[in-house]
Amino acid sequence: MASNSGGAGHRVVLFPFPYQGHLNPMLRLAAALHARGLAITVVHAEHHAPDPADHPADYRFVPLPADVPAGLLSSEDVARLLTELDAILAVPFGDRLAALLAEQDAGGVCCVIADVQWYSALAAARKLGVPTLGLMTSSAASFRTFMAYPTLIDKGYLPVQEGHKDDPVDELPPFRVRDLQCIDKSILAEFASLLERIVAEARRSCGLILNTFDAIEAADVDKIRQDLSIPVFTIGPLNKLSPSVRSSLPQDRGCLNWLDTQEPGSVLYVSFGSFVPIDADEFTELVWGLANSKSPFIWVVRRGLVRGFESGELPDGLEEEIRDRGRIVHWAPQEEVLAHPAICAFVTHNGWNSTVEAISGGVPMICRPLVGDQLGTARYVCNAWRVGVEVEVETRLEWGKLQLAIDKLMADNDEGKEVRERMKYLTNMAGNGVSEGGSSHTSFVNLVEFILSFTC
Ligand code: UDX
Repeated sequence: MASNSGGAGHRVVLFPFPYQGHLNPMLRLAAALHARGLAITVVHAEHHAPDPADHPADYRFVPLPADVPAGLLSSEDVARLLTELDAILAVPFGDRLAALLAEQDAGGVCCVIADVQWYSALAAARKLGVPTLGLMTSSAASFRTFMAYPTLIDKGYLPVQEGHKDDPVDELPPFRVRDLQCIDKSILAEFASLLERIVAEARRSCGLILNTFDAIEAADVDKIRQDLSIPVFTIGPLNKLSPSVRSSLPQDRGCLNWLDTQEPGSVLYVSFGSFVPIDADEFTELVWGLANSKSPFIWVVRRGLVRGFESGELPDGLEEEIRDRGRIVHWAPQEEVLAHPAICAFVTHNGWNSTVEAISGGVPMICRPLVGDQLGTARYVCNAWRVGVEVEVETRLEWGKLQLAIDKLMADNDEGKEVRERMKYLTNMAGNGVSEGGSSHTSFVNLVEFILSFTC
C-alpha cells in the first residue's frame, strides 16, 4: 500500500486483545495506518506483549501493568476470561490514555481503536472525550451472532436442545443450531450478558472495523450496517491490505526450506491456532495418523496445544518415524507456509485469521472447528463459499475421518475440483478487494479519511 504523509500530527492509540488471533489483525491495521502517515501508539497488556523490535522505530509501545491472576489467561471459561480481563485492564487503560492526552509532545491523540472485546476500555476512552472505533477481529457473521444472542435465547435455539442441533437458524442463515456460538448452559447467562456489553459499546463507538471483504460476507455486513447506526469499515483481508508484520513468537523458518524440496501441491499444513487446546487422545490419534499416512506434512504443535500436557513433547521415536515426510514445528511462519506452492491443503480449526489467510493463499481447507466462532466459520467455508470440506465435529477426532476428508478434497472428481476452483475465485476476489479501487481498499481509504476528520 502506497505511503502517504496525509496523517501527520494524527496519533491513533490501538489497544489489542492479548491473544495471537486478536493481536495479529490489530498490528496489521496499525501497519496499514502507519503506511498512510498516521502516528501509532500501541497500548498493550503485559502478557503476549508485542516486541517493539518487530515494528517501525517510530511506533510507541505502552505496556499496562496489571494484576492478572495466575490461571485466568489459560481459562477455558471464555465468559470469565473476557469479563475479568476487561475489568482488570480498563482502569489502567483509562489512566494511561488520560496521561497520553495530557502530554504536550505526544502529538494529538485523535482516536482510540480497541478490540471490541475491550468494551470497558472503549467506554473509558469515550468518557475522556476521545473518538473510539471497535475492531472486530473475527467474522461479520460472528458479530451478527453477538447481536442476535438475546433473540437466539428468547426463541429457544440456545441453550442447545438434544435433537435440535440440525435445525436451521432462520435469523442467521446458513447457520444450524450446532453452528452457533454455543456455550455451556451453566454460563449461558453470563456469556449473553458479556456479548450484550460488547455490542452496546460497539454501538456507542464512532465506527466499527471488520476484517472481512465483500466477496465472502457482503450480506452479513449489510445487516450489521442496517442495525448499527455508525459507519462500518470492511477492510479485509488485513493480511493482504497491510504490509507484513513480524510475529513476536519465534518461528521455525526452516520448514520453508524443507517445503522448497517438496513436490508442488503435495504437503498438508496442520494447525489449530494459538489458543484452544485439543484432548490428549485426539493428539495421539493425529500423531500416528500423520505418521502412518502417505502425505508429507507440516504440523504446528505449540506449547499448550494438548490439554493437561504443557510441554507438548512428542512420543519417543516419532521424529525418526516421520523424518523424511514431515516437519513438526512449535510455531510456523503461517502466511508464508500457506503461500508456498508445495502446500495442497490446510487442516484447520477455522480461527478467523487462519481462514482468511487460507483464502489469501488459495489453500483449500479441511475443517475441524473446536469452539465458538470457529463452528460458524467452518459452516461458511464448507457450505456457503464451498472452499473446504468438514471433518465431523460431534465426536472425538479420528484419523480415519480426517483421511476421508483429505481424500475427498484431493480427489480428481467434481467435488474436489469444484472446491479448488472456488478457492481460486475467492483468492482473486480477496486480491481485487484490496487493490486500488477494490471494495476493501476503498473502505480503508474512507476509514483513514474518517480518522483524519477527528480533531486532535
Ligand atoms: C482466536 C480464536 O480461537 C478464533 O476462533 C477467533 O476467530 C480468533 O481468535 P486463534 O485460535 O489464535 O484465534 O486462531 P486464528 O484466528 O486462526 O489466529 C491465529 C494466528 O496465529 C494467525 O494469524 C496465524 O497466521 C498465526 N499463526 C498460527 C502463526 O503465525 N503460526 C502458527 O504456527 C500458527
